[in-house]
Order: sequence, then structure tokens, then C-alpha cells
Amino acid sequence: MTEAQIRLYPVQQAEKIMTEQRPITRETPQAEPVKVPLATRPLGVFGSLSAGRRNILELIPEIATHAPILSGRTGKRWHMVMEPEALRHILRDNVTNYPKSVVTKLILEPAIGDSLFVAEGQDWLWQRRTAAPVFSHRNVAALAPVMTAAAERAASRIAKGAGRAVNCYDEMVTATFEVISDVTFSDGEGFDRASVHRAIEDYMAQTARVSLLDIIGAPAWVPRPGRLLSGAAMRQMKRVADGSIQRRRSEGNPGVPDLLDLLLAGEDPKTGRKMTTPELRDNLLTFIVAGHETTALTLSWALYLCAFAPEVQSAARAEAQAVLGDRAATAGDVAALPLIRRIVDETLRLYPPAAFLSRTAQAADRLCGREVQPGDTVILPIYALHRHHVLWDRPDSFDPDRFLDSRPADRYAYLPFGDGPRICIGANFALQEAVIILATLLARFRFDLVPGKLPQPVMILTLRPQGGVWLGVTPA
Ligand code: HEM
Repeated sequence: MTEAQIRLYPVQQAEKIMTEQRPITRETPQAEPVKVPLATRPLGVFGSLSAGRRNILELIPEIATHAPILSGRTGKRWHMVMEPEALRHILRDNVTNYPKSVVTKLILEPAIGDSLFVAEGQDWLWQRRTAAPVFSHRNVAALAPVMTAAAERAASRIAKGAGRAVNCYDEMVTATFEVISDVTFSDGEGFDRASVHRAIEDYMAQTARVSLLDIIGAPAWVPRPGRLLSGAAMRQMKRVADGSIQRRRSEGNPGVPDLLDLLLAGEDPKTGRKMTTPELRDNLLTFIVAGHETTALTLSWALYLCAFAPEVQSAARAEAQAVLGDRAATAGDVAALPLIRRIVDETLRLYPPAAFLSRTAQAADRLCGREVQPGDTVILPIYALHRHHVLWDRPDSFDPDRFLDSRPADRYAYLPFGDGPRICIGANFALQEAVIILATLLARFRFDLVPGKLPQPVMILTLRPQGGVWLGVTPA
């Protein structure tokens, strides 16, 4: 963005600026995939509360897809930042001033403890150093057979629904949960996949929806029943996980080393410290929570987009069939599936599962020339960043070929995995899994939209397709 574009807009002026400054788009009218109706007028406290309850993304003013920064006060002061240089400042250059917001911790800590995802400072650093080698390229590639097997099973389940509409979201959640539970607790024995899955789903569904109101400063008396309701399920899940870890410590694992083995063997390269059972458990549960639903969302939105753009789907199918024939994809195929990878990249742009990150400023600072005070909430609305009119050509269109030549011109215009030291540790794992499963499915089936059953993007901690992703499936 040029300096002239970095103007500071009070939120109240949003409507006026939108009509005055909206760039003229060069597109001939063309249908666009589903999107969130962003707010076109200031919402006020009660409007914000009701929109936030419906869909936290509706709190983002439409002007956020044109402006570099927006600030306001809804209970407490907040800034929404869409300017790449400022995002780099928050995520990398001045990262210690912007730890994850208190609300992120309130939501996640009961489920995943003080693990990698929520810890700060030294507590975070040693866990990150210990876990980083676990996600090395070599280790992630070695886990690919689990992904190939899950792709094969997903294809068999979907084949049974051929000729009818299938809820691809449910199928993808099943597939990615199989992957993550097989690579975390691969012995399976005593690890009740279904009950762990249910505990996590319940927790997320109940807690996150209410707690996200904290971001916009809902008063402390707003009840948060989810936390109380799911406490028992969470405790049970932790007991089950602890049992698996103890067994592994005493009996070892005769099979292929999984994430638990790698983390058990891992130690902080600086201090030699190893993880205790509760630390291992919280981190493995973190991988399960952070890893399966995000990847399932990527896959289900990708299938929706392929159904939305049949010509892209045909080209992707041709690519997948040429590489795979009738077998499922493996790690070795990923490099030969560039269009499938571009579809995944573009899906993560249009429907970033982590559509909204937030931080709490520690010390006074300036962002895009605007004063930030200690305690201010700094919101990184990745959804709006990825659809920003200054940063992207035809931002709401589905066009995987925009990733053809290279990454986006500005690295900080595209942040599906965050950036800086807190960048997603599982990004390569997720991308490999998404390409393997998507290629396998597209090679075998044609996916079509079902009239009247379009998914609606709603953010409940992650950007989910409300109502599921129902697609007609026919053998290719
Ligand atoms: C498409 C799938 C995924 C997406 C879009 C995604 C997105 C993200 C984002 C945006 C962050 C940074 C959050 C922030 O800065 O506030 C993050 C962090 C993290 N992710 Fe992922 N993630 C995905 C898959 C995974 C997988 C598969 C795993 C593990 C198996 C994983 C584990 C983590 C962990 C542990 C962190 C915290 C890292 C730290 O703070 O040091 N994620 N993820």
C-alpha cells in the first residue's frame, strides 16, 4: 500500500468512505462463490452483540476490505489491521508486544492446557523448540501413508453415496480426524476415537460461540455455559490420553513412529528438557484440536469451490488421473499435482479456517501511524485481508491460477497459517494431507452443487460451512 492509501478511518465514517473510495472493479459480472455479508454500517454495542452471536465475521465492516486499519471501541479499544507492513510488525518484528489475546487463552486453555498454542515467553519457546523437529519435512512425509489410507477410506464411503447428495463436510471431518488420531495415538488401543472426537466437538461448539463475544468486549456477566458443560467430557478425554501415553512409555510402539513417539523422543535442543506426561498430552490434544478441523474445512471448502467452478474441477481431475491412475495419492505425488495445490492455496485465501486472529498489546505502539495503547485488542481479520481490494485482483472470485507464478506479491497479504515465530507448526502436514485427499477424491468422483443447499460461511472459532457442504457425487 502506498502512503497515501494508509489513511486512518474512524469506523463511523465507514459508509461514507466506502461509497467515495471503493475502487472500480474491472470484472464483467460473474457469479462468485458464497461469502459472508460484511457489515455496511456501524453496528453499535447491541448490534455487535447480536451479529457476534450469529457470526463473528459479520462484525467486520465491509470497509475493512478497502482500508489499512480500522479502530473502534466496543467495551474496549480495538484495532483491525489489514496493512501488510503492520501485520509483519505485529507477527514478526515486534511480536513480543503482541501476545495472543486473553480471550484466545480463555477459550482454549481448558481444552489444551498451557501447550504450544497458548503458552507465551520461555514456556512457549522450549515447547516450540522441542516440537519443531517433529514436523520436519522428512517426518511429515513419513506419516503420509496414514493420509493415503484415510483418503482411500473416504473414497469408499463417498462411493456408497454416489448418485445422491453427500455431506462432504462430515466426510472430511471423519477423514482428517482419522489421520490426526492415527498419527498422535496410533496404537488406538484404549484410545476411544469417537468419544475424544465428541468431547472436542462439544467443547468447541458450546464454548467458542459464546466466548468469542469477549473479543468485542462483551460484559463479564454474559454467561459462558459451554465451559461448565463440557468440563466433565474434557477431563475424561485427558484421562484417556494420559493412559495412552503411559502405556507407550512402558510398552513402546512396534509400528511406524507417530507424533507421540517423536515427541516422547524429543527434547529442547538448548536445555535437554523433555516433556512430562501432562505436557505431552496437552500438546498432542493441541495437534488434534488445531489440526483436524482446520484441514477438514480446507478440504470441504475446496470441494465446494470445485463444484462451483466445473471447468477448474475438470482440469484438476485430468491432472489427478494422469498422475494417479486408479490408486490413491501418496507423498511422492504431491509435487506432480500443482493445480490441486493451487486449489488448496486459493481455498485457504477465500475461506481461511483461522479467519480471525487476535492479540493484546502490551506496551504503547503505533500501527499505520495510529496510536495503540497497552491493553488494546489488535484483531487480524484474515478473512478481510484475503479479500482486500488493494491487495488482490477480483478478491471475491475463485481463481487458483492467481497462485501460478509465485506467492502473492506481498507475503503478508496471505496469512492462512499466520506468520513469524508463532506460524502454524503443522502447515506442511496440513498441505500434504489436503493435496493427498483432494487429488484422490477428484480423480474418482465428479462433485456438483445441490440447488438450494449452498454452504454459508460462519465463524465458530473456525470458518465453518453452516448446514454442511452438500454436493451431488457421481463416479468420474
Ligand atoms: C489447513 C489447516 C490449518 C490451518 C489453516 C492452521 C492455521 C493456524 C494458524 C493461523 C495458526 C497461528 C495462530 C495465531 O498466530 O494466533 C496456527 C498455529 C498452530 N497450529 Fe495450525 N493450522 C492448520 C493445521 C494444523 C495442523 C495439522 C497442526 C498439527 C498437527 C496444527 C498445529 C498448530 C499449532 C501447535 C499451532 C501453534 C503454534 C505456536 O504458537 O507456536 N495446525 N495454525
